[in-house]
Amino acid sequence: TEAPLTDPFGRQIRYLRLSVTDRCDLRCRYCMAERMRFLPKPEVLSLEELDRVAAAFVGLGVRKLRITGGEPLVRRDVMRLFERLSRHLGTGALDEVTLTTNATQLGRHAEDLFACGVRRVNVSLDTIDPEGFAEVTRGGDVSVVLEGIEAAAAAGLHVKLNAVALKGQAAGIVPLIEWGHARGHDVTLIEVMPMGETGEDRADQFLPLSDVREALSDRWTLTPLPDRTGGPATYVRVEETGGRLGLITPLTNNFCDGCNRVRVTCTGQLYQCLGRGRNTDLRAVLREGGDDRALRAAIVDAVGAKPWGHDFAIKRGEAPSVARHMSVTGG
Ligand code: GTP
Ligand code: 5AD
Ligand code: SF4
Repeated sequence: TEAPLTDPFGRQIRYLRLSVTDRCDLRCRYCMAERMRFLPKPEVLSLEELDRVAAAFVGLGVRKLRITGGEPLVRRDVMRLFERLSRHLGTGALDEVTLTTNATQLGRHAEDLFACGVRRVNVSLDTIDPEGFAEVTRGGDVSVVLEGIEAAAAAGLHVKLNAVALKGQAAGIVPLIEWGHARGHDVTLIEVMPMGETGEDRADQFLPLSDVREALSDRWTLTPLPDRTGGPATYVRVEETGGRLGLITPLTNNFCDGCNRVRVTCTGQLYQCLGRGRNTDLRAVLREGGDDRALRAAIVDAVGAKPWGHDFAIKRGEAPSVARHMSVTGG
């Protein structure tokens, strides 16, 4: 049956990415400025408000919910939200609740996440090299992240590793893939997107995945896979490791034709597209006393005006295509 949320191009929106905080305990160079100004707490949706937003989307046919940030696990009491959300898994209204995390706090939350019905987590990890990791994150300790991943796997969570491909860390890509595949984790590489000022030029960071793929196929046999997991990645199998490798290529190969998603920021702004500025203020509806019908109507209107896609471009010396940071929009 057709989803109540269908955009002007006939794409059915079944996937919500919900950001629960703009804060993070790391400072990845392509993501944040060294000194980020975070949002004042009153601007951020309460856990109750986040739950209401999620329920409205579920009522409109969304089947997959991903909690993002910032770093979701630095939000105080975030497990209470996961507990609440699990009711939609119980009723069968949702197929899955997933999490995108940097894994620094995953060790102490993994078992609770599993108990709340979470079965998959995507861990953002750009390199396993300790020095490279400290460089990218401006001081992070990779061993904590690797322990978090181990704890997640031990708790029964399926782990996927997401790595932004960076010129300065190109030498770490093969070791990361080997490390992940040896432990049964899919690895996905992502092209850096020009979102938000970080104090560095993204032209100095951008590593086209078309080049990476070519280099990897000199080393390994890459067999294209038909898999689409409902995300933007295309997949290949690395025959030598037996693992799956995903490629997310917003710059070198646009994937917007298959878009099935919208996102809501931690302040309740619904973005129709990651790469666009247009948004709808769901927080205003919530805080002006709007009922669930009003909330659903605002969502239906926004999806009904979803644009075709992003037009990210990276040019040396130019301001980012999108002024807001990924940490606000939630990937
Ligand atoms: P699964 O396929 O379910 O594992 O999830 P996913 O790939 O949708 O989610 P994930 O959090 O792993 O997304 C990885 C990254 O892909 C995000 O952090 C974004 O950087 C990027 N991404 C996700 N959706 C979009 C999108 O609609 N447009 C663009 N340009 N990038 C996206
Ligand atoms: N371009 C691409 N990916 C980014 N992320 C954060 N900022 C950017 C960017 N500018 C990634 C993180 C994480 C996910 C939430 O988004 O590495 O995997
Ligand atoms: Fe934090 Fe993720 Fe941004 Fe890195 S990419 S600073 S881990 S939100």
